[in-house]
Amino acid sequence: MKIIHITAECYPVAKVGGLADVVGSLPKYQNNLGEDSSVLMPFYDTAFTKENSFSEVFSSEIDLDRTFSFSVRKLDKSTLGFELYFIDIPELLFTEYVYSEDDTLRFLAFQIAALQWICGLKEKPNVIHCHDHHTGLTPFMMSYANDFAQLKDVPSILTIHNAQYQGWFSHEKSHLIPEFDHQHFGLLDWDHSINPLAAAIKCAWKVTTVSPSYMEELKQNANGLEQLLAHESAKCIGILNGIDVNVWNTETDPFILKNYSLSTLDAGKKANKDWLCKEYGLNPKLPLFVFIGRLVGEKGADLFPEIFDKVLNAHQISVLLLGSGSKDIELGLSELNTKHSGAYNSYIGYDEKLSHIIYAGADFLLMPSRVEPCGLNQMYSLRYGTIPVVNAVGGLKDTVIDLNEEGFGILHKELSVDLAAEAIARGVELFKNQKKFKEIRKEIMSIDHSWDVSAEEYIKLYKSIK
Ligand code: ADP
Ligand code: GLC
Repeated sequence: MKIIHITAECYPVAKVGGLADVVGSLPKYQNNLGEDSSVLMPFYDTAFTKENSFSEVFSSEIDLDRTFSFSVRKLDKSTLGFELYFIDIPELLFTEYVYSEDDTLRFLAFQIAALQWICGLKEKPNVIHCHDHHTGLTPFMMSYANDFAQLKDVPSILTIHNAQYQGWFSHEKSHLIPEFDHQHFGLLDWDHSINPLAAAIKCAWKVTTVSPSYMEELKQNANGLEQLLAHESAKCIGILNGIDVNVWNTETDPFILKNYSLSTLDAGKKANKDWLCKEYGLNPKLPLFVFIGRLVGEKGADLFPEIFDKVLNAHQISVLLLGSGSKDIELGLSELNTKHSGAYNSYIGYDEKLSHIIYAGADFLLMPSRVEPCGLNQMYSLRYGTIPVVNAVGGLKDTVIDLNEEGFGILHKELSVDLAAEAIARGVELFKNQKKFKEIRKEIMSIDHSWDVSAEEYIKLYKSIK
């Protein structure tokens, strides 16, 4: 089966969050199952595109408000486990960032160029798999744009990684979409604007979310798309994300300071923790609670200053944070640096290497998310022997079982300062019982969250269409 994933992010080329990790690993596992799965993404100006070589396989032009030349480039000698193709539109896509304030033109041009290329392929794909709103107009254009009529019968799949962002733009820009029969205009609209995510939910042949619980939650809370999802529920299914266990492997991870296995777990984690504590001025004897991620409301980050202040006043613990996002939240957190110096520290920014060291060196990983479509951090932390302390939503609910239910993690039922602080207090208690604490972290390292099962579920889904 020939599968093309179309995406804005893919690890290791360009990563803003978990979308990149998913698209950078699922195709590899699909290929391991004997399929022909590849990835198509924009050609950005990143370290990866600077350091690798590419061959042009196609070139043409697209007409939007003006004409843009583009080429399709293929990564030479891919070692990623899948073939990687790029749409290169230098004026629009060759940027150091993935997302900006207004990406309508960029991602529309990307999708149109992608479909032009695919239309010209001798062997058409059996499935086009789109990810999030950046590729949300693709299913519509495949079904209704005159230029892409050849792709009418090719099934399109949409995976919703995050329904908060929908790519809205005004009707005034609808002339940018290649010509189509206007009786279908309603498919593009949701609540008086062009809504690429809604259009994809309406037009894709199947829709998936990245965990089963998130699928259910979206029916109640989908940033305005609740009714649409309820209406389309027959073609929707939740498939839990997996992780790339080759990249996330404590025995071989080149980023961490000391590699470890189940039998060397204590020494390995200690070496990584000692380094972190030295680097960030924290006491290595105390339990280390960490957060890694985007500082936004969905992650519960607006409550971090209050939560951390409360637990740092109440307990002898260390807290380390890696992330960036809302400037207000960053400011609130910086006050903790002064107030709780020696117990709290942060690195405001993005650092892939540091994130690996933190997963390895931490005792507990905090994810008090309000909304978490899947969440990969908790799966990485399990694999690195770090106990997750999470709010019971979305994928967190589907992957973490509470200690009180014969599980291995700490869950709170809702997000509030008090409930998150109580959950952290349970972690502090667990840390005091070193025997139990060590048993649990050994147990969690063996939990299998690799893509093996879910990659197969996607293949089954594709096959169910034909
Ligand atoms: P989301 O996609 O909502 O941000 P996920 O849990 O799915 O959340 O994935 C986040 C991914 O991004 C993980 O691989 C995590 O380690 C990584 N990450 C998030 N913030 C940072 C950061 N500041 N530095 C390094 N890695 C980060
Ligand atoms: C989104 C979600 C996150 C999920 C990731 C990968 O960014 O916020 O929960 O893990 O996509 O699917």
